[in-house]
Amino acid sequence: MESFNNLIVEKDGAIVVVSINRPKELNALNLATMQELDKFFETLEEDASVRAVIITGNGDKAFVAGADITEMVNMKALTARDWARLGQKVFSRIENFSRPVIAAINGFALGGGCELAMACDIRLASEKAKFGQPEVNLGITPGFAGTQRLPRLVGKGQAKLLTFTGDIIDAQEAKTIGLVDKVVAPEELLTAAKTLAGEIAAKAPVAVSYAKLAINRGVEMESEQAYAYEAELFGMCFTTEDQTEGMTAFVEKRKPCFKGI
Ligand code: CAA
Repeated sequence: MESFNNLIVEKDGAIVVVSINRPKELNALNLATMQELDKFFETLEEDASVRAVIITGNGDKAFVAGADITEMVNMKALTARDWARLGQKVFSRIENFSRPVIAAINGFALGGGCELAMACDIRLASEKAKFGQPEVNLGITPGFAGTQRLPRLVGKGQAKLLTFTGDIIDAQEAKTIGLVDKVVAPEELLTAAKTLAGEIAAKAPVAVSYAKLAINRGVEMESEQAYAYEAELFGMCFTTEDQTEGMTAFVEKRKPCFKGI
């Protein structure tokens, strides 16, 4: 697997763990890191052996404490717009990655860090994790699609409350409002993420990918269109060997062995 300066990549069977690795800067996302994340997911898309990805932050303090403020402090408007566009593109690539991506949020997930977590399919948080969109404290708005993903996850009211105040909330509160899906003890976070990833990796891969597509695309459509899209994907599952295997195994009262075809 390719090596990066600001990412640590570990492959364990069908699961890949990618850690943002700038612990001294609380894993703040600078341009180089965003470019590496983009490249990483682009390359991984070609690797059919990967069935789930975990994103976490290196060190015990931060998942990602936001976009790198030292790189933005002297930015001009057009460069800032391009920076936001790059962040949106990279996070959309993660959101649309054809296999599930789990955020294992080990500490601060602020600004661009919260936005990165929201681009993942499932968010597991350590009890120590902290969340927020503190951009208003810096005189800016969220720029990596936080104004769009946050209200879709937690509703407009909670999204505005967090975004207008810049307040930092803890993992339990993030769970209460629907920003995270599960909270675990800090020492259990990575194991819990790997167990979940392993559980998903054992399912029929094409079905999992289609389910992700149906949810991601479907929620942006009118219901009728979304139902039609769901029916198409449901039908497409019946072109796979794994559908035959899954149902035959059920009938034969044995465990299925999925091949991803
Ligand atoms: N960018 C660059 N450097 C950062 C950073 C960031 N987002 N967050 C933390 N750091 C750096 C600090 O400057 C500090 O560096 P030095 O050791 O060289 O001084 C180091 O990381 C450790 O941070 P602190 O000393 O501040 O640690 P703390 O425990 O006292 O505070 C914190 C932790 C509350 C997370 C604080 O660091 C903080 O408020 N960080 C900024 C959070 C933020 O505003 N994020 C949003 C950025 S804007 C954005 O993301 C826009 C967007 O939508 C794309």
